[in-house]
Amino acid sequence: MAEQTEKKLIFSGIQPTGVFTLGNYIGAIRNWGPLQDEYRCVYSVVDMHAITVRQDSVKLRQNTLQAYALLMACGIDLEKSLLFIQSHVHTHAELSWILSCNTQFGELSRMTQFKDKSQRHPDDMNAGLFTYPVLMAADILAYNADLVPVGVDQKQHLELARDIAQRFNQRYGDFFTMPEPYIPLVGAKVMSLQDPTKKMSKSDTNPNACILILDDKDTIIRKCKRAVTDSDTVVRYAEGKDGINNLMTIYSSVTGKDFDAIEREFDGQGYDTFKMAVGEAVADHLRPMQETYAKLIGDKKYLNECYTQSDAKALAYSSKIVQKVYHKIGFVDAR
Ligand code: TYM
Repeated sequence: MAEQTEKKLIFSGIQPTGVFTLGNYIGAIRNWGPLQDEYRCVYSVVDMHAITVRQDSVKLRQNTLQAYALLMACGIDLEKSLLFIQSHVHTHAELSWILSCNTQFGELSRMTQFKDKSQRHPDDMNAGLFTYPVLMAADILAYNADLVPVGVDQKQHLELARDIAQRFNQRYGDFFTMPEPYIPLVGAKVMSLQDPTKKMSKSDTNPNACILILDDKDTIIRKCKRAVTDSDTVVRYAEGKDGINNLMTIYSSVTGKDFDAIEREFDGQGYDTFKMAVGEAVADHLRPMQETYAKLIGDKKYLNECYTQSDAKALAYSSKIVQKVYHKIGFVDAR
């Protein structure tokens, strides 16, 4: 990462818990590449976050490399940005401890994602699941990030990161930058294709609910055709038409067309034609990325070189910040 201090710094991360969904892609990842020219960008595959839910260790290792290659295929350019593996950069865990001592139990108890996940995993309500937002705050604050591109479901965690930063600054003197959310206007919450009142998620038990970005064309079209809509027949964006609104959002995100243009395009054509067009547009949009991914994932040596380089730079950068934090809170300086 070049030391161009005039540019603002972006941080974002994604969990390696399987192939990314179209929700991850539209809400977050696809926005990461275009930000690279205007900002200094630091991106991470956050494997430490993933283990808050039990993971098979062989799969986690595969998924981490897969996530890394997918992010590169989605346009993260290592000439411009850092892309590292979270567990390789020990400052995240270290800062997380410091920040957890500046976070209240009550604040963490209010996190809706904790409530959801602990309900879904009643047999494994581990402490990491509870303190997860503190680790996320550490990810961001270890780089003093200005902006954090995420989907809307991460907004509450980001607000907590800001509260923690503000509390730290009040206690120890101004130090952390207040990170701002960077949430897309369209596609910040892509919904399930089977229940469009719920967000699209990898953990959905119904495979038709979710498009994965490595799905082939036939699968994508089939899932779109089966998407739950309503009994109306007109393609228009309106209250009460959650299924169609979601498909319009997806179509708009991959074609760049706005809702008015989409309504005109499908005027008088009915839902089947529209669903088919959505499926085709998504598949065509994803194909070049899928081709790049296929090449990258076969080259483990290259991937290793990429993350090793970024890991080292991320560690060097965040260590400076964490050392200052240690000093501020009163730890004796090392060396
Ligand atoms: P994760 O791995 O669940 O999701 C990665 C990104 O995808 C977005 N996203 C969605 N956007 C729109 N529609 C959806 N259906 C949808 N599903 C997921 C998420 O908002 C996210 O931006 N805690 C984070 C990872 C993280 C992080 C960070 C993010 C760890 N540290 C620091 C930013 C900064 C998470 O679990 O995202």
